[in-house]
Amino acid sequence: MLQSALQYMGEQLYSDESMLFPDLEITAPLSANSAPLLLIDDLHFAYPDGRVALRGVSLRIARGEKVALAGPNGAGKSTLLLHLNGLLRGRGRIEIAGVPVSERTLSQVRARVGLVFQNPDDQLFSPTVFEDVAFGPLHMGLAADEVRARVERALAMVGMSAYHERHPYHLSMGEKKRIAIATVLAMAPEILAFDEPSAGLDPRARRSLINLLRDLPLTMLVSTHDMAMVRELFDRMIIMDEGRVVADGRAATLLDDHALLEAHGLEAPWKERGVCD
Ligand SMILES: Nc1ncnc2c1ncn2[C@@H]1O[C@H](COP(=O)(O)OP(=O)(O)OP(=O)(O)O)[C@@H](O)[C@H]1O
Ligand SMILES: [Mg+2]
Repeated sequence: MLQSALQYMGEQLYSDESMLFPDLEITAPLSANSAPLLLIDDLHFAYPDGRVALRGVSLRIARGEKVALAGPNGAGKSTLLLHLNGLLRGRGRIEIAGVPVSERTLSQVRARVGLVFQNPDDQLFSPTVFEDVAFGPLHMGLAADEVRARVERALAMVGMSAYHERHPYHLSMGEKKRIAIATVLAMAPEILAFDEPSAGLDPRARRSLINLLRDLPLTMLVSTHDMAMVRELFDRMIIMDEGRVVADGRAATLLDDHALLEAHGLEAPWKERGVCD
């Protein structure tokens, strides 16, 4: 039941063959473009049970920026990310490269925004890893050789080349997480929207994820509780709390503001708190 629901969702995601931007290469150079690649203006959202999750979120992200999204549990981070490719629809304006996210533009938007869910079980639904990673490229109408090449490349990028024939449901949480990331990389999106990508990864897998994110020349909005990763990888950090953006600035500056972090349920990376000194 759950599987077929997720499969249906995946088919809806990639079913429209009229995608306008089907083959953006991950290695493509970034073009100089000062207009924001992602614009969110005064976004409000309440779940069907009435719980208000977003209370007027506004932000702009330029092409090539790598931005961390932090905040306590329940702040609205996942809810915000689910809006970026139209899986949730709130009140307000969202534009991807100047294209408003709407029913009419969903296929364009979904070709440009690669969303990795917080829970990899929400992303994986095929009998094999290969089929899961191939699903998006296949539904973009790519030739079989190109699909295979993309799957190989995406699995290599997350260090999972040996896992083609494995059943995704039989993998460990960290392995599933890496396959979920591969399903998105295989689509060659322009914007990566990652929801807690390092949660549940062992130190080696976390390190290769950090290296991967550093090397990818893509625009990113990455929700995370991993402040050490933020310190290492992100120039900019946005902090959300209770459905609002409460800080948006240089990550190094915000991470030094311990009062700000504490007020919003965050902590500076442990080495900086003198724990090991
Ligand atoms: N399906 C849902 N139905 C009703 N309320 C929901 C639903 N999903 C999330 N919420 C509520 O919306 C608010 C924002 O949740 P969200 O999952 O976006 O937070 P988050 O910042 O991603 O938290 P976390 O750090 O725990 O992942 C919370 O109050 C949560 O309880
Ligand atoms: Mg979340």
